[in-house]
Amino acid sequence: MNDTNYIGKATSRVDGPAKVTGAAKYAAEFNVPNLAYGYVVSSPIAKGKITKIDAAEVLALPGVLQVFSHENVPTLALLDRSYKDDIAPGGSPFRPLHSAEVKFSQQPVALVVADTFELARYAASILKIEYEQAGHETDIETKRTQGFEPGTGKTGFVPPPPPRGQADQEFERATHRVDQEYVHGTQHHNPMEMFASTVEYHEGGKLTVYDKTQGAPNSQRYIRQIFGLSKDEARVISRYTGGGFGSGLRPQYQLFMAVLAALELRHSVRVSLTRQQMFSIGHRPHTLQTVKLGTNPDGSLASLHHHALHETSRFEDYTENVVNWSGMLYQCANVKLGYQLAKLDVYSPQDMRAPGAATGSIALEIAMDELAYAAGLDPLELRLRSYADRDQNLDKPFSSKKLRECYHEGAAKFGWEKRNPAPRATRRGNMLVGWGMASGVWDASQQKAAAKVSLSADGKLTVQSATNEIGTGTYTIMTQVAAEYLGLPLEAVDFQLGDTNFPPAPVQGGSWTAASVGTAVKEACEALGEKLLKLAQKMEGSPLADAKFEDVEFVNGQLRLRLDHNQAVVIRDIVQASGETKLEADATAAPDLAKQKQYSLHAHNAVFVEVEVDEDLGTVHVTRVVNAVAAGRIMNPKTARSQVLGSVVWGISAALMEETVMDHKFGRYVNHNYAEYHIPVNADIHDIDVVFVEEEDDIVNPLGVKGIGEVGMLGVAAAVANAIFHATGKRVRELPIMLDKLL
Ligand code: MOS
Repeated sequence: MNDTNYIGKATSRVDGPAKVTGAAKYAAEFNVPNLAYGYVVSSPIAKGKITKIDAAEVLALPGVLQVFSHENVPTLALLDRSYKDDIAPGGSPFRPLHSAEVKFSQQPVALVVADTFELARYAASILKIEYEQAGHETDIETKRTQGFEPGTGKTGFVPPPPPRGQADQEFERATHRVDQEYVHGTQHHNPMEMFASTVEYHEGGKLTVYDKTQGAPNSQRYIRQIFGLSKDEARVISRYTGGGFGSGLRPQYQLFMAVLAALELRHSVRVSLTRQQMFSIGHRPHTLQTVKLGTNPDGSLASLHHHALHETSRFEDYTENVVNWSGMLYQCANVKLGYQLAKLDVYSPQDMRAPGAATGSIALEIAMDELAYAAGLDPLELRLRSYADRDQNLDKPFSSKKLRECYHEGAAKFGWEKRNPAPRATRRGNMLVGWGMASGVWDASQQKAAAKVSLSADGKLTVQSATNEIGTGTYTIMTQVAAEYLGLPLEAVDFQLGDTNFPPAPVQGGSWTAASVGTAVKEACEALGEKLLKLAQKMEGSPLADAKFEDVEFVNGQLRLRLDHNQAVVIRDIVQASGETKLEADATAAPDLAKQKQYSLHAHNAVFVEVEVDEDLGTVHVTRVVNAVAAGRIMNPKTARSQVLGSVVWGISAALMEETVMDHKFGRYVNHNYAEYHIPVNADIHDIDVVFVEEEDDIVNPLGVKGIGEVGMLGVAAAVANAIFHATGKRVRELPIMLDKLL
C-alpha cells in the first residue's frame, strides 16, 4: 500500500468535539428516569470475617431502599455460577458480597441503595458492621522464599522459556559483571473516569447497562453468566471511556452490584466508586527482580539472568510477562529466566499499561546501564553489540524489526554522541545534568474481531463494532480505515463502538485494537466494495461491466478503474440504483496463523532522556525525552504521537512519583487518593519528542499495524533512572526515585 488518502495522515480526533463539549456521555452520566443510587461500603480490615451487620437503623431512613450484603446476596446471585471473565487469571475470581469472609482491605462488604447518592453515602457511613480480625500478611519481603511458578491460564501469559546455554558458568567466566536487585512498588491505574455502572431496568426484567469498561462484551458475558440473563436481557453500552490503562479489562465489582440491585429491586440503579475506592480494583504488583549480566571480552552479552517475584492475591494467580522480554531483546546464548508469584492478603493485581514489560524493562535496562559502566562502554554501544536479529526465545526471525534505526534516529535527534560518559560531569548552574537511555520490546498482537458496515443512499457509511475506545484514537483510525477502503470523505463515515448489539470484539487492551478491529473494518469494507462492484455492473451502460475487483478502486466517492479514472460510477448512485435503502456487509477477521507461525511479531522502542537534578534538594526534572518507536505502520501520526506522549509521562511517573504505599500494620494502602498518590502535572513534563521509524510488515496483519498503546512506555523509567545516575553518580535501584534517595 503506497498511495493512501487517509491512512497514515495526521488526523484530529473525530470524537474530539463530543468530548470537549460534554456531548460524550460516560457511564455515570446516563440520567435514566427513576434512578436509585448505590454506595459501596468497604472493609476497614485486611483479613477476617464479618460477625454482624445491623442494617435496621439504615433501613428505617426514609428513602433507603435496601442494604445488600452476604446475608442476603447468595440466594439472589447464584453461588454456583462462574464469575470468570475474558481476562481472568487462574484461580477463583472474587465474588462480591458472597461470604462473611474478608480477604483484603477495602473489600466491598455491603451496598446501600437509596433515592439519592448523598443519602446512600450517608446511610453507608452509619451502617453498623462488626468484624473479627485475623492476622494478615501484605509484605512481599516476607515471601522471598515462598514464591511459586504459576500455571498458564490468562490470555497472553507465556511462562518464561526454558534456560538456554550455560548461564551460570558463563556468568562466572564473564569479563564484566552486574548482579543486582531492582524493586518497584505497587501502582494503581487511576483513570480520570471512576468506575460506575448505570443499569436501566425495563419492564419484564430487561437491562440496559452503561458500564465503565474496556470491553462491553466482556462485561455482558460476565453478568449473563452470573445472573442467568439472555443476550437480549443484558445489553451493555460503553461508548466513551475516560481512560482505562488496563483497569477496565476485567468487570469491576460495581457492575455486579448495580445489576444485582436492579434485578432485585426491579428498579434502575447506578453504582459509582469514589476515588478512594479506585484503589480497591486491582493494581500493578509490587515486584522484586534480580538481574545478572556478564560480558564477553568484545563487550557482547555472555550471560543473562532475570528473575521476578511479584505479589498476587490469595484467590487468584495474577500473571504477567515480566522476564520473557529479557530473553529476546538482546542476543545472548546463555540465558536463565525465572518468574514467581507470592500470595498476600491483597486484592488481585491487574494488567496495567504494558503489564510486565514496563516493570521488567526497569530491571533489565538499569542493569544494562550498570554493565555499560562496568565495561567502559557507551550504553548505546553496549546494546548494539548484542543486537538481536532473531527472537531467541522462539528461535524465529522477526516479521520486521527496526530497533537499530530507532537507536540511530533517536540518538541523532537527542544529540547522544555529545555525551560525556563521566557521572557528575555536566552542570547547569546548581543543576547536575544527566543523560540516560534504554529500550524495549512489546507484542504485536491481533485478536479475532468483527465489524459491520452499512451504506445508505445518501452516501453515509455507518461502521459498527463492539470494541472500545479508552482514549487511544480508535474512533478516528477506524474512520480513516473505512474512508480509505471505500473512498469516502471522513465526514461521511460514522464509526460506532461500545455496544453489545454490535459485532463482537475483544476488550481494548494489549495494544491490539488497531490490528484486530482495523482488519475487521477493512475486510467488511472490502466485502461491501465487492457488492458495490456487482451492483455497478448491473447499471445501464456501466463503464465497469467487465472489471474485476482487483481492477477497481474506491476514491473520492467514486468506484473507478485503476487504469482509467474516467471509467467511474458514483458510489451513491450505485446504492440508489440498487433499489435498497442501504447496502450492508460484515466481516470477522482473525490472525493468519499459517502466515505468522514462522515469525516473531513485535514492536520496539529506544528512549533517550535528559534530567536535571538539584544538587541541594534532590529534586529531578526530566527536561528532554526522545522516544523512537518502531511499531509497523502508523495509522495516524497525530493520535499515535499522543499515545507515545502519554506513555512517556507514565514512564516518568513510574520513575519519580507513583507508588501506592501499604501500611503493613493495617494491610491497607495509606495514600489512596489523588492528593497523596502522586502523578505528574503539566509543570513536571517538558520536551518530549516522538520519532516513528515505520516498518512495512504484511505478516503481522493486512494493515501492517503493530499497535502503539504500550510500547512507548518501555524503558522510559529505566532511562530516567540511568540519566539520574549519569547526573549524580548515585545508582538507585528502587523506584520511584524520590528526593530522599538522592540526598
Ligand atoms: Mo492494557 S494493560 O492491555 O489495557
